[in-house]
Amino acid sequence: MTEVALVTGASSGVGEALAPLLAARGYRVYGMSRRPVDLKGVTSLPADVTDALSLVQATDRIIAETGRLDIVLHCAGIGGAGPVEQMPTERARKIMDTNFWGSWNLCQATLLHLRKSPRGRLVLVGSIAGFMGIPFRGAYCASKAALKTMTDSLRLEVQGTDLQVTMVAPGDIATNSIATQYRQPAEDLDPIYQARYRKADDGMASNVDAGMSATHVAEEIYRIMNRDSLKPYYVVGQFVQKASTVASRWLPGRLWEKVLAKYYE
Ligand SMILES: NC(=O)c1ccc[n+]([C@@H]2O[C@H](COP(=O)([O-])OP(=O)(O)OC[C@H]3O[C@@H](n4cnc5c(N)ncnc54)[C@H](OP(=O)(O)O)[C@@H]3O)[C@@H](O)[C@H]2O)c1
Repeated sequence: MTEVALVTGASSGVGEALAPLLAARGYRVYGMSRRPVDLKGVTSLPADVTDALSLVQATDRIIAETGRLDIVLHCAGIGGAGPVEQMPTERARKIMDTNFWGSWNLCQATLLHLRKSPRGRLVLVGSIAGFMGIPFRGAYCASKAALKTMTDSLRLEVQGTDLQVTMVAPGDIATNSIATQYRQPAEDLDPIYQARYRKADDGMASNVDAGMSATHVAEEIYRIMNRDSLKPYYVVGQFVQKASTVASRWLPGRLWEKVLAKYYE
């Protein structure tokens, strides 16, 4: 039986690389994003993850057309930059709405069907930023940390079913995400922040430009989803990025903070 997969974030970046990759490997694939997609072998399924009803309708369409849903690879997400003190709250809230509540909505719309699959897989794309508080990316880091914790809860809740859940936490990926995200203009900020904000934000943009290719991350996600038994999370990135997620948990708090501060100095 052909397995049915839903890939979110299919109009750009990782999702755009992953959806046709799955189609080429024999899955029946639906690609979701707000913009329609035109990708080989992929059925476009426009929906907004912040709109719970649109996700239920999209899932109902998949079930009506195929009778099943085996795999959900959730790549939709947004970034954003600004200091906690001054970033407009509606911008921060949009990040949380998309990255955390969007994932929550997606779970509520799809879990019932995924649980019915004999080999259900749910892969939620987080970030290494969910393991640490990067300066001037507080809303984004918080949204990915919340996603990680939700994934941990969900894994325990579905124990004993055939569904496996994991989070993939990538480091920098060279996609359009920096170009499309909200980055607060430095000149709007209090002077105490301006120089450090510019440096951190420019550094982030050049790290993303020099990051892994979306195709590489898509291949990694494909490899992970096909493992027999999924771990709670997988970090995908350079050695130093993988090491940072370990150090953030094991180093004493002040020492880890010094390491991060030095990096962003
Ligand atoms: N790029 C990086 O360096 C990096 C690093 C670590 C983690 N990540 C994470 O990896 C994932 C993929 O990132 P990317 O770089 O591939 O991003 P991207 O190129 O900016 O693509 C983001 C995708 O999410 C979709 N999306 C955004 N808001 C949505 C909404 N409300 N409803 C439905 N779809 C929505 C976009 O489609 P529409 O605009 O058409 O809706 C687009 O297809 C994200 O979760 C991101 O946080 C990225």
